[in-house]
Amino acid sequence: MTIGSADLSLAPARPALVHPVWVRITHWINAVALFVMITSGWRVYNASPLFGFEFPSAISLGDGLADALLWHFAAMWLFVVNGLVYVTLGLATGRFRKKLLPVRPAEVVRDLGAALTGKLSHDDLSVYNAVQRLLYIGVILAGVLVVLSGLSIWKPVQVQELTAAFGGYDAARYVHFFAMAAIAAFLVIHITLAILVPKSLRAMIMGR
Ligand code: HEM
Repeated sequence: MTIGSADLSLAPARPALVHPVWVRITHWINAVALFVMITSGWRVYNASPLFGFEFPSAISLGDGLADALLWHFAAMWLFVVNGLVYVTLGLATGRFRKKLLPVRPAEVVRDLGAALTGKLSHDDLSVYNAVQRLLYIGVILAGVLVVLSGLSIWKPVQVQELTAAFGGYDAARYVHFFAMAAIAAFLVIHITLAILVPKSLRAMIMGR
């Protein structure tokens, strides 16, 4: 019931929508695609390691190099198309501007200090703190870098200008590896925090 401008209904207010449906769908498709890309990429790496170690086969995907490449290329399409949808909608709807900007160094230092001393507030899920903003922008850029460096080593003849921009085929392989490592490091922090703040996980599933 409404009298004047006051809403007197007794029904509890529905919590505000934090993540629209397109964010949730692209987020979870991305999580599956990246899981397949990273674990199959480790198996591909093992066929010709850049460093003095290999990834244990128990945590890598694919029965040998050829099989791992099939997984890697299949998930690549999912990752790229889904990523393009997310980035296009993030820019077009103004979500990136509203939720990820600005990132002020002083606020990053303040929020990092608060997070490490357990004083960071999680009351308002609709506003990302400065550390989240920095990490989300960083991982989106790492995603762009991993795709471009991947393209350079997949089609080094067709996209030779791009491969040259990375400093050649071998350098592009290192860039691809370190972009993967940055994403994997992000995921360790990101998944730990999602578990520590379960209502943020619920919001990424239910929207509210
Ligand atoms: C099991 C895996 C994952 C879990 C449990 C998870 C969980 C979450 C949660 C709970 C949020 C909302 C944070 C908040 O509202 O405070 C979120 C947002 C986000 N996650 Fe994940 N995530 C996962 C995988 C990934 C992956 C693989 C990436 C990319 C590398 C990623 C990138 C992001 C980004 C960029 C956002 C912000 C989205 C936006 O607001 O537009 N996440 N994630």
